[in-house]
Amino acid sequence: MISGRAKLAGVMGWPVGHSLSPSLHGFWLETLGVDGAYVPLAVAPENFDAVLRDLPKLGFKGVNVTIPHKEAALKACDEIDEVAKRIGAVNTVMVRPDGKLWGTNTDAFGFIENLKWRAPDWTADRGPATVIGAGGAARAVVVALLDAGVAHVNLVNRTRPRAEALAASLGDKVLVKDWETRALALNDVALLVNTTSLGMTGQPPLELDLASLPKEAVVNDIVYVPLETELLKAAKARGNKCVDGIGMLLHQARPGFAAWFGIEPQVSDALMMHVLTAAGAGV
Ligand code: ATR
Repeated sequence: MISGRAKLAGVMGWPVGHSLSPSLHGFWLETLGVDGAYVPLAVAPENFDAVLRDLPKLGFKGVNVTIPHKEAALKACDEIDEVAKRIGAVNTVMVRPDGKLWGTNTDAFGFIENLKWRAPDWTADRGPATVIGAGGAARAVVVALLDAGVAHVNLVNRTRPRAEALAASLGDKVLVKDWETRALALNDVALLVNTTSLGMTGQPPLELDLASLPKEAVVNDIVYVPLETELLKAAKARGNKCVDGIGMLLHQARPGFAAWFGIEPQVSDALMMHVLTAAGAGV
């Protein structure tokens, strides 16, 4: 139940119907008994700036921003934090008491918190990491790994110039490796992360020979439909510790919820099941 004083937040996307954020935040609002609402906001790109600027007038505490607005939000906010600048995208906007918009990106936080949640033995000093992909998700993952203190990150992408652009903007600890010989970029790593859409339901699998991957390495796929991708199946079969992708989505939502509704939410298996059901992941 919400009252006339309910705190307001939401997610802006175009389209927004696929977003799992209303289900995720809705679970927390209900289980924590918060007088608040989190709503989907379908905002066309041409209206994005104006609608975002009007949030304070509507009394919103803030919003999540999703495809295709994450880069536009970087320019539309009054202030952007360092991590959002490095990732090159904003996914969380807070309305300050003075009405100013403050933008951050919580995807790197979500990635590292999920890794700690599911693979508590992993630490940055265990060795380098290999990241597959060079899209928006890869940027957040690489920033998270560099901030965690990983010695270097091997970056592999089908379109090499995209990986080179990412590496150039994030510094010399990011080493670009060839897509064709990606299996060779695994032999000394402590962590392998797939950030591409390969392996997702309806997409081809990620073809990657794991033979040279150390058995102690953690394998993290950020795909979560299905929860266990072919990559994770293959990694599990050879004894690697596996981390699936749903937790990154759950953990990235925590800072926004805490700021908008004033309570630190917890990520739990019950939340995970709720969101996976909404995602139609067949659980
Ligand atoms: P996101 O923001 O979710 O990371 P994206 O920016 O569209 O999405 O990036 C998708 C990633 O999956 C990219 O690394 C892409 O590789 P390219 O840069 O070469 O396009 C990768 N990807 C998608 N389909 C692929 C395929 N069939 N084979 C190899 N890589 C693929």
